[in-house]
Amino acid sequence: MNESIYHIFRSSSEDTDIMNELFFHFFIAALVVFILVAGFLIFIVRKYKSKKLEKDKYTVLENRSTERITLFIASVLVIVFLFLTVKVMFRIQQTPSEEQKPFVKITGHQWWWEIEYLGDTLFTANELHIPTGDKFVALMESADVVHDWYVPALGRKIDMVPGVTNFVWMQAREPGVYEGMCNEFCGAQHTWMRVEVFAHEPEEFEKWFQEQKQKAVEKPDTLFQKGKQLFQDKVCANCHTIRGTSAKAKVGPDLTHFASRNKMLGGKAEVNFQNIKDWIEDPQKMKHGAYMPNFLMTEEEINALAHYLHNLK
Ligand code: CUA
Repeated sequence: MNESIYHIFRSSSEDTDIMNELFFHFFIAALVVFILVAGFLIFIVRKYKSKKLEKDKYTVLENRSTERITLFIASVLVIVFLFLTVKVMFRIQQTPSEEQKPFVKITGHQWWWEIEYLGDTLFTANELHIPTGDKFVALMESADVVHDWYVPALGRKIDMVPGVTNFVWMQAREPGVYEGMCNEFCGAQHTWMRVEVFAHEPEEFEKWFQEQKQKAVEKPDTLFQKGKQLFQDKVCANCHTIRGTSAKAKVGPDLTHFASRNKMLGGKAEVNFQNIKDWIEDPQKMKHGAYMPNFLMTEEEINALAHYLHNLK
């Protein structure tokens, strides 16, 4: 479960296998063409290097039959690869049937991901948890500008366009952590719009899912209660949801189980007490351009709020 090496050819899905295979064909063809062209060039240079050109003798600058042959080879290559590419495109973007209900809806925001488990109205953010096994369909939307979902090992990438619902097939055959990122420039923090997909064995996934469906924890200690109160009073609740409390807004990420996540700020920072504090204290310092406001809280307030959030496992 701890493996999280980003590898361009890593594949855990049928679709990525097919795309990798296509890439390999392209690569071989390009390599052969390169070797032929470079080899021919070297051959010509060496063959004629010592000959003095007599102006009048070397005026023929065309060779029609060579041109025809190269044009023919190039055309065949273009046609073959067009065919192979279109074939792959159709294989990986099949319209789901009636029974193939979408599993999640992922919405791109500047600069984080909102994940909704359809049918169960469970919302999470920045981490996608899925069961291993068959392909599933995900719906893709954007809340603001064009984003692009890309987790290479799990399938193709797909644009998230405001006002349009796209879909994409994903699959993880093996359990593990799969890294991805936004692939369309979407503003100041495009770089920090990463995502980690956690693929669990189905039973493990079910366990995670049931835990996430629980309401937020409740703790009796004073600091926790103070933080909870501040969350309401300091208008955090105007943007975030914490299920089980009166915070129900959906501008920023759902924080019900915030501390169960590995990372925050679109992957920029680990979820730990210090980072939560730094974030509340000065959001712009941690992630310039982010829409999280600075509420100019006192050290004591920041401490209580961070304590509260850090307990939302
Ligand atoms: Cu979202 Cu780049």
